[in-house]
Amino acid sequence: MALIQWDQKYETGIKQFDEHHQKLVDLINKLYDAMRAGQGNSILASVFNELIAYTQYHFSAEEKLFKETKYIAAATHIREHQKLVEKVTELKTQFDQGKMGITSQTLNFLRDWIVNHIQKSDKGYVLHFKKYGIK
Ligand SMILES: [Fe+2]
Ligand SMILES: [Fe+2]
Repeated sequence: MALIQWDQKYETGIKQFDEHHQKLVDLINKLYDAMRAGQGNSILASVFNELIAYTQYHFSAEEKLFKETKYIAAATHIREHQKLVEKVTELKTQFDQGKMGITSQTLNFLRDWIVNHIQKSDKGYVLHFKKYGIK
């Protein structure tokens, strides 16, 4: 069973970002599966890297549109993105230094963060983006 089951309630209606979010969910599930299967650190590290890279790609895409459309809540939203990037970078550093493994706790944190962020913060930009014809 996947850690996160994609659900309609996670959809924003902005197609490009719904696709990004599904990919992020897939990557978190992939990391969870690798952890549960007892995969070695090199596999965990590569999935973790993939998740970090895709997260950054996705955040940049949202932030680029915030800028282009002068989104009023951009600053708060960007701060949330930055906080997650900082947290994940810190986890990755500890993992690389062998100070910690990827645990259920790490995965639960990522799951809660993503589902809350999508449902609260990302859904907040939907009407604004639609006004600009962004689908
Ligand atoms: Fe997002
Ligand atoms: Fe976001």
